[in-house]
Amino acid sequence: MSSKIAVVGCTGAVGIELVKCCHARKSVFGDAPPDLYASARSAGKTLDTPYGPLTVVEFNVETLKAKAYDFIFLAVSGGFSLENAIPLTTNASGTPTYVIDNSSAYRYHDEVPLVVPEINFDSIAALDSKLIANPNCTTAIAAMALYPIHQEFKLKKLIVSTYQAASGAGEPGMQELLEGCKAHVNGDARPDNKIFSHPLPFNCIPMIDKLQENGYTKEEMKVAWETKKIFGTDDIKVSTTAVRIPTLRAHAEAITLETEKDISPQAVVDCLKGKPGVVVEDDPANNVFPLPLTCSGRDDVSVGRIRQSLIFDNKGIDLFVCGDQLLRGAALNAILIAEAIVT
Ligand code: HSE
Repeated sequence: MSSKIAVVGCTGAVGIELVKCCHARKSVFGDAPPDLYASARSAGKTLDTPYGPLTVVEFNVETLKAKAYDFIFLAVSGGFSLENAIPLTTNASGTPTYVIDNSSAYRYHDEVPLVVPEINFDSIAALDSKLIANPNCTTAIAAMALYPIHQEFKLKKLIVSTYQAASGAGEPGMQELLEGCKAHVNGDARPDNKIFSHPLPFNCIPMIDKLQENGYTKEEMKVAWETKKIFGTDDIKVSTTAVRIPTLRAHAEAITLETEKDISPQAVVDCLKGKPGVVVEDDPANNVFPLPLTCSGRDDVSVGRIRQSLIFDNKGIDLFVCGDQLLRGAALNAILIAEAIVT
């Protein structure tokens, strides 16, 4: 079987991962490469991809509708998605085009499913929607680890502290971190910062995204809003502190959770065993735990440092989660949604 696929925003960090994931899953989607689209600025460029060199074409909504794609992956800004995502779900031949949008534009619309395929794939059919929202990467990573625990022990409260890599701000974020590190090595103690609000090397920045009226940032509130929508409940209380740290890739999160039912570290290990996309790496005596360096480029979410909570006792757990946010938290999640639709 083969699918006609387009990646819009193919030159960004998530767009590049989307192309790599299409190739990695070509047994599902077929050998043909996706068509690559971007703004006029990037049109005409040739990208090195696992398929070989591919040329980027300027995005135009009518061009895409005429091509009657099976799947269009959007890795673009929210404003672009608001304008284009819904028109792209209909095409010239009348066949279904599924549009999977990585921006936050439609995530909180009741009629648009917000999907982590291992958790709530059914919501696509339930809402009969061709537009599907891909979650915030921090949320998707935590959700993979937390949903099995929720199913078995019913989550009541989550306290989340994030450690988010520079690549959460895209390729320019990684470049700023690398250039800043070089500047330090060369003896310039004050590297420039344009992408981040402060220099990131040898630092951490406890504010990601725009401040909301309640004093939390949008990134922090996304974890609350999106976890509830993906899990299909308003009954979990979520409070988050989102922090940028000087790693290049893979977001980590320290999570304290309170449950309705009694829970223990061994029960968490047992409950996560064999769950798709999740691995337990928890042998602290031998320094084995989730790390951004070892989670980068990996498809699964790693869970470790699983401890009985000293606050919630036998109804609480502390744990540490890490996953590649460009891959598992974004591109791979989108590809797995499409794969589940195809198969
Ligand atoms: N907004 C995230 C970050 C990336 O800045 O790290 C996607 O969640």
